[in-house]
Amino acid sequence: MDIARARYLASPAGRAALAALPPVAVRDDPNKLVSTLRRSYPPAEASALSEQAILNARAAARFGNAQRAMLLTGPGLEMMTHPAIARRRAERLTALGLPIADLTCGLGGDLGPCTAGGLRAVGVERDRATAILARANIPAASLVVGDAARPPLHIEEHAIILDPSRREGARRTFDPAAFSPGWDTCLALASTARAAVLKAPPGIDHARIPASAEMEAVQFGAGLREITIWSGAGAVPGLRRAVLLPAGAFLTSVEAEAPPETVPAGVFVFDPESCVTRAGLVRHLGHRLGARMLDEQVAYLTADTPSFDPMAATFEVLEVTPFSVRRLKETLRAHHWRPAEIRRRAFPVEPDDLLRLLGRIEGEEITLLCTTIAGARTVIVARRIRPPSSPAGA
Ligand SMILES: C[S@@+](CC[C@H](N)C(=O)[O-])C[C@H]1O[C@@H](n2cnc3c(N)ncnc32)[C@H](O)[C@@H]1O
Repeated sequence: MDIARARYLASPAGRAALAALPPVAVRDDPNKLVSTLRRSYPPAEASALSEQAILNARAAARFGNAQRAMLLTGPGLEMMTHPAIARRRAERLTALGLPIADLTCGLGGDLGPCTAGGLRAVGVERDRATAILARANIPAASLVVGDAARPPLHIEEHAIILDPSRREGARRTFDPAAFSPGWDTCLALASTARAAVLKAPPGIDHARIPASAEMEAVQFGAGLREITIWSGAGAVPGLRRAVLLPAGAFLTSVEAEAPPETVPAGVFVFDPESCVTRAGLVRHLGHRLGARMLDEQVAYLTADTPSFDPMAATFEVLEVTPFSVRRLKETLRAHHWRPAEIRRRAFPVEPDDLLRLLGRIEGEEITLLCTTIAGARTVIVARRIRPPSSPAGA
């Protein structure tokens, strides 16, 4: 976004014009919207207002109404932390009682919730137009245009946030060179600050996480969103934590672990959430559930008594069978079981391919848990069960 557009949007005239816009849906035609707005505004303003209206609709579709009043850019919205994750981060930072500096503040997704506790909060942003919008979005914070690599404040006295941007196309593999500020710069800043929280992509290698830091694998809904690296004040070196939001469920590496010995599938099987596997806490969850692993390389757990925890899906085992499409088809047909869901761990066949190979089968909805146990491809036919009070699908 250019600076003139950002200035207009942040001005009283721009804010008033935005407030007067009719509701817009994500799928609305931006050209039609601009034509309508041109009847009341000069072309540049009509274009700026239409862009905001569409971006706000996109933000509402993604985050609910939490970010409704924010001024946005397309890339800024893409990179913005989910509000539920930002709120929890802010609560943890606020509890430290230190002034907070977000050195890569973007539009203020992380910085905004940090101002709620009344502590001094500063945002640093390299891009001028983004900084203008952030200043309007987070009036309770001070906003500085600057380079995080040369912070314009004493980070030794601050709790800092670092959420480096990533080059396009660098999403899949962890490439330290793809970050801005560079990954090594982020680590150096984090180790200098009084306290630091560094946001990393879910795929980061464990080797890249300093041993002196605490790591969290943060999941929102079904998706693993980020690895959060905490250091300095308030961080517990070496601790790993699985964080599941919005449930607000946690599991840490200080909890006891189930014994490492594997056991055959019992009456129940548990499928841990991604935050548990990513934090390397499967046996810790096993202890909580009173369950053991089926195979030391595979995250499925099993027990003879049912347990329910937000960190895992619980299944009642109906049948355990070596993998063969023909045999599986026969079993499903014989029992009138319809595979409504296929989950897999350490299993080479794509769920959609397996469904196609099995063909149409009618009957009770069941889940297939496809895996490899002691080197043998195995299918566990199972029924999802939930705690007595919870609604189906929760
Ligand atoms: C991933 S975004 C931050 C998003 C923010 N946490 C949020 O939730 O809205 C990273 C931001 O850092 C800015 N940035 C990148 N390199 C920077 C640097 N060296 N100094 C300051 N800001 C930088 C980018 O312009 C971008 O706005």
